[in-house]
Amino acid sequence: MQYSSLVERIAGESVSAWDIHYAACAAQARGEDVIVLSIGDPDFATDADICEAAIRGLIDGDTHYTPVTGRLELREAIAAKQQRLAGIPLTAEHVTLVAGAQNGLYATAMCLFEAGDEVLVPEPMYLTYSASIQASGATLIPIPQPSSGDFRLTAEALAELVTPRTRGIALATPNNPTGNIYNAAELAAVAALAQEHDLWVLSDEVYGQLTYEQPHHSIAALPGMAERTVLINSLSKSHAMTGWRVGWVAGPKTLIGHLDNLLLCMLYGLPGFIQSAALKALELDEQIVSKARALFRRRRGLVVQGLADVPLLRCKIPEAGMFMLLDIRGTGLTSQQFAWGLFEHGGVSVLDAEAFGASCRGFVRLSFTVGDEALSEACKRIAAYVASLSVAIEISS
Ligand SMILES: Cc1ncc(COP(=O)(O)O)c(C=O)c1O
Repeated sequence: MQYSSLVERIAGESVSAWDIHYAACAAQARGEDVIVLSIGDPDFATDADICEAAIRGLIDGDTHYTPVTGRLELREAIAAKQQRLAGIPLTAEHVTLVAGAQNGLYATAMCLFEAGDEVLVPEPMYLTYSASIQASGATLIPIPQPSSGDFRLTAEALAELVTPRTRGIALATPNNPTGNIYNAAELAAVAALAQEHDLWVLSDEVYGQLTYEQPHHSIAALPGMAERTVLINSLSKSHAMTGWRVGWVAGPKTLIGHLDNLLLCMLYGLPGFIQSAALKALELDEQIVSKARALFRRRRGLVVQGLADVPLLRCKIPEAGMFMLLDIRGTGLTSQQFAWGLFEHGGVSVLDAEAFGASCRGFVRLSFTVGDEALSEACKRIAAYVASLSVAIEISS
């Protein structure tokens, strides 16, 4: 039987990047001693009050269809939150609920881009970006952010890749996997290019509240940007709600109208009891997020300290989020060899960060998504694995 060309556009290397994670989870399920640092899923449970709101909804019979773009009360709460975070005026009409930021990214790409279009995306980029954008038929053009420049975006790199076919720029800030928060100069460069060439900007801000020393700023707040910026956000990371699939898209009202039509045929609304839980999560917002922020920050410190004296390794200290890149080039291994070697000989799973883009060649990504004890043990195992490599290097030289 024949399949559509879509199946080619949604397959690719980024899909196989998860193999090590699946292998680690399978090993753990068999009872093997594996520390899984290969996924961005907070290890702690969703707050009990949020869970109770969902349970109450279920018991009260809130099990029917809901409005496609979400209940008004929740969209109003999201608009208020997003207005506070992004610094632009927003109402419920600028917002639609989606099944996680991932669903929002895909649906937005389908409404903005099509075959023949080019979409610029700074790389390294989150693994699903290529399939989500290319599903629309558009071509994704990666903008290199080399490790030598601390994975920063430059106006020159951006300008070099813009063509008459460019329709948009999609970026995640704070970024996964680099942990960088795009700074004022980087955002200004994107905004200037977007206005000069009449481009959409997709701003994925799922880690926007999980920042450490300095706050994140949304590009939507720059002059002339609100009308061309689509904000994508969710409760997954900030509120430890990955499995609830609650996210939203905030942007121009016309786009929300198109998304309403698309979501009618691809989602048909989120469950009512989930929306009640989301409303509770927004009510408790900073109370919940501040705990997660402090916890990830403490874990970042643990890893930096735990790996500080390991020769041949260098931590790229993240400004936000729940991940850290490790520069493993000193070991002489490829990042894929390192990741699989560490898993097989050290019982720790990390991701080969090259899957996020060529700029991450020689880096692996680990997550702060296990408790302090397991994280410290993982650092010891990483150190032991690197020490075993150093012995092998000495013997062979
Ligand atoms: C940058 C980025 N965007 C979006 C997502 C997906 O988030 P959600 O669970 O809200 O779909 C992730 C998940 O890791 C991510 O890292």
